[in-house]
Amino acid sequence: EQDVLGKLPLRGKKVLITAGPTYEAIDPVRFIGNHSSGKMGFEIAKAAANLGAEVILVSGPTNQKTTHSNIQVCPVVSANDMYNEVHKHFDSSQIAILSAAVADFTPKVVASQKIKKKSDTLTLQLEKTKDILASLGAIKKEQFLVGFALETNNELENAKGKLKRKNLNLIVLNSLNDKGAGFKTDTNKVTFIDDKDNILEFQLKSKTEVASDLLNKIISEINA
Ligand code: CTP
Ligand code: CA
Repeated sequence: EQDVLGKLPLRGKKVLITAGPTYEAIDPVRFIGNHSSGKMGFEIAKAAANLGAEVILVSGPTNQKTTHSNIQVCPVVSANDMYNEVHKHFDSSQIAILSAAVADFTPKVVASQKIKKKSDTLTLQLEKTKDILASLGAIKKEQFLVGFALETNNELENAKGKLKRKNLNLIVLNSLNDKGAGFKTDTNKVTFIDDKDNILEFQLKSKTEVASDLLNKIISEINA
């Protein structure tokens, strides 16, 4: 790949991205999941690849597809699978962007046979999953680490709390209060908050444009 016009600012950089939901098995035929489509993560992956990056895209179950030659898709199912896959690639990455909607809780035991409807109520015991993003924040060296925050109230405050607690360089606040923003749509309304407390609020845009805004922000930060 040639970069005569200097348009490949991420050439030589490895970018690790998570996308989509996770599925947490209850029994052989059922799971706990969420409505994440994976669109945002796949758009970020394409934008990074188009800027010259070598992209590792760790994705939960989605219908999204990409055939970009700079993108290696690593499919996973559960939060625990995603944790293990992400940790294989973090050391050798320069940028990590965790946009997946990871399950916060998973069934404590997975029934080995299909659960039968023999009683009137069913109680599932859930335990917390490992926080992948926080685990990277705890071990990061030179990496530029980006998280997402999905909030419905106290948005800025909650997002800033996550930025600090998880030791991030940047957090993308995703407000579910905005019409047209969120899980299933092609559009998103986001606010970037960096570790110097700069706050950048955007209008409702296509996820393709949000991905490009995000990579521009990251590139300007790593070159600063
Ligand atoms: N995340 C993660 N691993 C988890 C849970 C979340 O890597 N087990 C990441 C998400 O990919 C996202 C960020 O953490 O980048 C914030 O996710 P969010 O659900 O907004 O926040 P939580 O920290 O899970 O807290 P809560 O759901 O209680 O608001
Ligand atoms: Ca969560």
